[in-house]
Amino acid sequence: MVEKKNAYFFANWKMYLDYEESVELAQSLASLLPKFPSSITTVVFPSALAFYSVQQTLKNTSIKVGSQNIYWVEKGGYTGEISASMYKSLGSAYTLIGHSERRHLFHETNHEVRQKLEAALTVGLQPVLCIGEKLEEREQGKSEDVVEVQLRGALENLVWPGNPSLFIAYEPVWAVGTGVACDPAETERMHRIILDLVKGLAPQVSLKILYGGSVRPENIRSYINQEHVDGVLVGGASVKLDSWLEMINHGCS
Ligand code: PGA
Repeated sequence: MVEKKNAYFFANWKMYLDYEESVELAQSLASLLPKFPSSITTVVFPSALAFYSVQQTLKNTSIKVGSQNIYWVEKGGYTGEISASMYKSLGSAYTLIGHSERRHLFHETNHEVRQKLEAALTVGLQPVLCIGEKLEEREQGKSEDVVEVQLRGALENLVWPGNPSLFIAYEPVWAVGTGVACDPAETERMHRIILDLVKGLAPQVSLKILYGGSVRPENIRSYINQEHVDGVLVGGASVKLDSWLEMINHGCS
């Protein structure tokens, strides 16, 4: 087992919670925070609708709040979009970029992912870049190629600010929301590949690699124990208080 100094537990609330449920969960997390081990860094990603209230609820705690998506233009006629700078001005610290649901349900391209990444870096949001292959790509033995294309599209010749840091969430599409998690040893193998690719593309960047895809209280430890897994990005199991607390207990025991 690998001793972890710090593990990152990121909670992607997706569109699972309405406004009241989001604020309620944030209030519960804030009140239970003294029980969380300090070795865990928590970031929650509420819906755009609940973002500000959740941020206000958590602002005096160590739990950070991020957006699930951003748009790269600062202001203008872009119905339904919210810019990186708008989130930043409301206290956002992080943003997910290129989540598989954005890529595959909303047809977000590698080029758009790149523009969002640049916008996040410009305004000082910490990007969490999500990558991962689809089932047919895995079955055809193309997983490595897919993550390489996604990483090159996002990172090649990118201009970084001072002290650059990046989170990557490796989230195989077939594991997201399906109950079929990636085997922990295979996750570790993919994380090593990602680490090597990022070293080549952005050697100056301080990198953390999270795993996401059907992480549950009963399997979280098997990921955290892997040498190159710095934490997890959790969807479904992060929106119920009990399972999230169980996850924290299992994840650091
Ligand atoms: P899941 O989602 O935990 O529900 O599989 C993970 C994610 O989409 O980040």
